[in-house]
Amino acid sequence: MIEIKNLSKIYFASGQEILALDNVNLRVQKGEIFGIIGLSGAGKSTLIRCINMLEKPTRGSITVDGRKITLLDKRELRLARQKIGMIFQQFNLLSSRTVFDNVLFPLEIAGAPRQEAARRVQELLELVGLTDKAGMYPAQLSGGQKQRVGIARALANGPKLLLSDEATSALDPQTTRSILKLLKDINRQFHLTILLITHDMNVIKEVCDRVAVIDNSRIVEVGHVLEVFSNPQTPTSHSFVNAVISRDFPGELLHSTTERSGDIASKLIRVSFIGASAGQPLISSMIRRYNLDVNIIYGNIDRIKDTPFGNLTLEVLGHPGLLQEALDYLRGEGLEIEVLRNA
Ligand SMILES: Nc1ncnc2c1ncn2[C@@H]1O[C@H](COP(=O)(O)OP(=O)(O)OP(=O)(O)O)[C@@H](O)[C@H]1O
Ligand SMILES: [Mg+2]
Repeated sequence: MIEIKNLSKIYFASGQEILALDNVNLRVQKGEIFGIIGLSGAGKSTLIRCINMLEKPTRGSITVDGRKITLLDKRELRLARQKIGMIFQQFNLLSSRTVFDNVLFPLEIAGAPRQEAARRVQELLELVGLTDKAGMYPAQLSGGQKQRVGIARALANGPKLLLSDEATSALDPQTTRSILKLLKDINRQFHLTILLITHDMNVIKEVCDRVAVIDNSRIVEVGHVLEVFSNPQTPTSHSFVNAVISRDFPGELLHSTTERSGDIASKLIRVSFIGASAGQPLISSMIRRYNLDVNIIYGNIDRIKDTPFGNLTLEVLGHPGLLQEALDYLRGEGLEIEVLRNA
């Protein structure tokens, strides 16, 4: 759906060059919810604004739904943009227009026949649950309701792609969840591709299929959300993941060892469970098969999009050879195992 090749963006401001995007390459598949996460100033808004050419790239090309958007003339771009909806952190509604007329606005611009447009607005307001607010003005709405208007407006012309720039950053956690649920429903119902940017890993965890991590103008990691959560590859991803899923436990545990005798070895391991394996009694069968003792140090279980996800930190004690076999057994069952300490 989106293909970004060698994209760079340099801003010129007060005699200085600012490299906001540095050779970005990215592909977003049709129908997926793709998240881009990064710290403030990393280049997220610049990237998303390049995709609908609100910002002109300095180098590189962007293809959206088979059309090279970077090569279109003004008229072609105007038409192409009708198929790319966008929602914003500050909602960007027209304050002098009612809810109904805000949603009508893009249809007016596209020259849709009046009656058809009015019917479409009704349909969209129903979709976002605001039928009873049609005659109100933005100032009379809560933040969550404003964003629902923003979403209805973005969907007015039946876009194939929805861009979301921090759409939930101004909302409380509960409202955030309801807006994310709406985005998820729209994605499923219309097979709409959604590209969203955020600095909040909870948003990624809640709705995204894949995620790219942007750090200092560069994409440093791309992967399925479950993969990135279970095995982050860069320090930046690591800190984002740790902000929402506590994988770390008190450091002194790393050094304390259980009393043991003879040729008994000990390993401190972190086991990550994903999906179906989260419901299987793999640890107890490992204990039985390899005659081990297990000390549970720390554990937690969570949900990523619709998949259960958990991790468990264990001290495993047993015969050195059997210990190694036990870890191989767990890995063979599809669990991610990280050895934190060998003793
Ligand atoms: N119009 C502009 N002119 C000059 N520099 C800009 C402009 N817009 C953004 N920048 C700079 O480009 C870099 C990336 O900015 P961008 O807005 O893309 O970051 P961001 O990741 O969206 O941050 P935030 O999370 O704070 O919204 C920053 O250093 C910013 O100062
Ligand atoms: Mg931004």
